[in-house]
Parts: sequence; structure tokens; C-alpha cells
Amino acid sequence: MSKNIKLNNGIEIPKLGFGTIGQDGEQIIDNVAFALQNGYKLIDTANRYDNEVAVGKGLKKSSLRRDSYFLETKLGPTLYETESAIDDTLKRLDVDYIDVMLLHHPVNNYINAYKMLEQAYNQGKLRAIGISNFPVEKIQEILDICSIPPAIMQVECHPYYPAEMVKAYCEEHKIALQSWFPLGHGNNDLLNDQVLTELANKHKKSVVQIILRWHTQMGFGLVPGSKSFEHIKENSNIFDIELSAQEMELIAGINKHTPFYHVTAESLQRMATTKCSFEK
Ligand SMILES: NC(=O)c1ccc[n+]([C@@H]2O[C@H](COP(=O)([O-])OP(=O)(O)OC[C@H]3O[C@@H](n4cnc5c(N)ncnc54)[C@H](OP(=O)(O)O)[C@@H]3O)[C@@H](O)[C@H]2O)c1
Repeated sequence: MSKNIKLNNGIEIPKLGFGTIGQDGEQIIDNVAFALQNGYKLIDTANRYDNEVAVGKGLKKSSLRRDSYFLETKLGPTLYETESAIDDTLKRLDVDYIDVMLLHHPVNNYINAYKMLEQAYNQGKLRAIGISNFPVEKIQEILDICSIPPAIMQVECHPYYPAEMVKAYCEEHKIALQSWFPLGHGNNDLLNDQVLTELANKHKKSVVQIILRWHTQMGFGLVPGSKSFEHIKENSNIFDIELSAQEMELIAGINKHTPFYHVTAESLQRMATTKCSFEK
């Protein structure tokens, strides 16, 4: 099974990426460099994580050539009408191009923001564009107005909530799914789930590795995060086992149909108004 996803514009990106939320400064510089030197070829960040400068330093610290890894970031909703926002992002990351840029949330003037992504894509600043956290009706709205369809949709997804609300729709429209909270944000019930624990024992892997392998076999991209070198390394060591169709069925059976992160009117309002530190 391929370690890559072929996007609808022909570009292939690695399924496995490293997520950087909640980390900044020396910690993320070291972790990004360590991840790139230990099996990851994709780094995921966002304007809103307020760590793009440090992520950029981590990319440099890895000493790897720019074309040997993929960089993904997300345009923050408070910047959806800021003309310079994508150029400013390139400057913060200190790169000439970004491989994937997503709209972070379906709030504010996301139509204008999507057109900004399209323009930057046509100018060669972005190699692929997409969305995150969009419900089906808003993805359809993008498809109705766009000239470049979204290549990726990043969404909460793990065995307890396998992105059912958007999965069939995205598959039909050739939009690759990429999982955030792939480990349920480290949720104890998920990481100690009995079915997953039995599979872990059988395959001589950790529960985390079984979950991450499940994502890749579902065809999802994934961006697990970790602050620990040991975990970062462990999480990249998932491609030497194959879960059988029967084992994938067992995992389908633990679906709780409920996300850990609940979208509410208040959370959407927060996403729409909370500025990044560099905007203040
Ligand atoms: N698009 C969006 O709106 C959105 C929203 C949220 C997140 N994201 C993206 O998704 C990424 C992942 O999210 P996340 O980090 O919050 O959740 P996650 O990847 O599901 O889980 C991270 C948690 O799992 C633990 N963990 C990781 N590897 C482990 C291992 N091998 N053994 C035991 N525990 C392990 C981590 O602890 P340790 O640090 O101790 O390893 C941490 O507590 C983010 O970094 C971000 O890039 C996107």
C-alpha cells in the first residue's frame, strides 16, 4: 500500500505528517527537525498556531533540501480578507512556496479567502489548496464557485469518529481526507480501547501505531502531534504491518459516531474573531 496520497491535481503527498499545534520556540524547532530526520516528510502548521517562524527554523535545522519534504499550513479566518496574508505566511515560514494551504475554518469571508488561495496557486506560491472543518454544504458552495477544486479536507478523524459526515462526499468529489486529532488528542479511552489493545498485542505494536496504521489503510492522510522524541519516532514506524480486512472491520465496530471536539456557535465565533499574535 502506498505511503502517499495522489491529490486531484496530480501531486503526491505523504499520508503521514507531523502536527505542530501547541508547540513553539526551541521545542518545535527541535521536534520539526527531529521528525524530518526520523521518517516524516510532511509538516503541518497554521497561522493560528502562532509558531510558523519556529517551524521555519526547524525546517532549516533539519538541513534537508526544500524539495525533499512537504509543508502544509492554514490561513487563519481573521486573515480571509487580508491581501498580503499568503505572502506574509511565506515570509514567516521563510520559504519560497508552500505545498498545501487550507482555509482553517468555514467562517468569515471564506469565499474571498478561497479565491486568494486560487490566485496564489496560479502564481506558483502554493502547490495544492484545500479546506478544513467544512461541512458538506459549504464544501459544495466552494465547488460551485471555484476554478480549482479543493485537493484536501482536514477534519477530526479517528476510530471513534471516522469522519462519516464528509467521507463519502469527499470521496465522490476526489477531495483527499486528512485526519486531525488522529489519536483523539491522546484520549485515554481510545488509547486503551480493548479491541485496539488486542490488535496491538497481536501485531507486537503499540495501540497508537495500530490507530495510525488504520488511518493510512483507510486512505486518510494524518498529522499526529507529539512533544516527545520517543513518540515521534514510534509514530512513524507503522508501515511494516498490514491490518487484515477482518481487523479493519473490528476497528469499524468501535466507532462511537461522536467527535471529541464539538463545533458550537461559540466555538465558531471564537474561530472567526481570535487573532494571531502577529496581527495584534
Ligand atoms: N484543522 C484543524 O482545525 C485542526 C485542529 C486540531 C489539530 N489539528 C492538527 O492535528 C494535529 C494533531 O492534533 P493533536 O496533537 O491535538 O492530537 P493527536 O495527534 O490526536 O494526539 C496528540 C496526543 O497524543 C499523544 N501521543 C502522541 N504519540 C503518542 C504515543 N506514541 N504514545 C502515547 N501518546 C502519544 C501526545 O502526547 P505526547 O506529546 O506525550 O506524545 C498528545 O497528547 C495538530 O498538531 C494539528 O497539526 C488541526
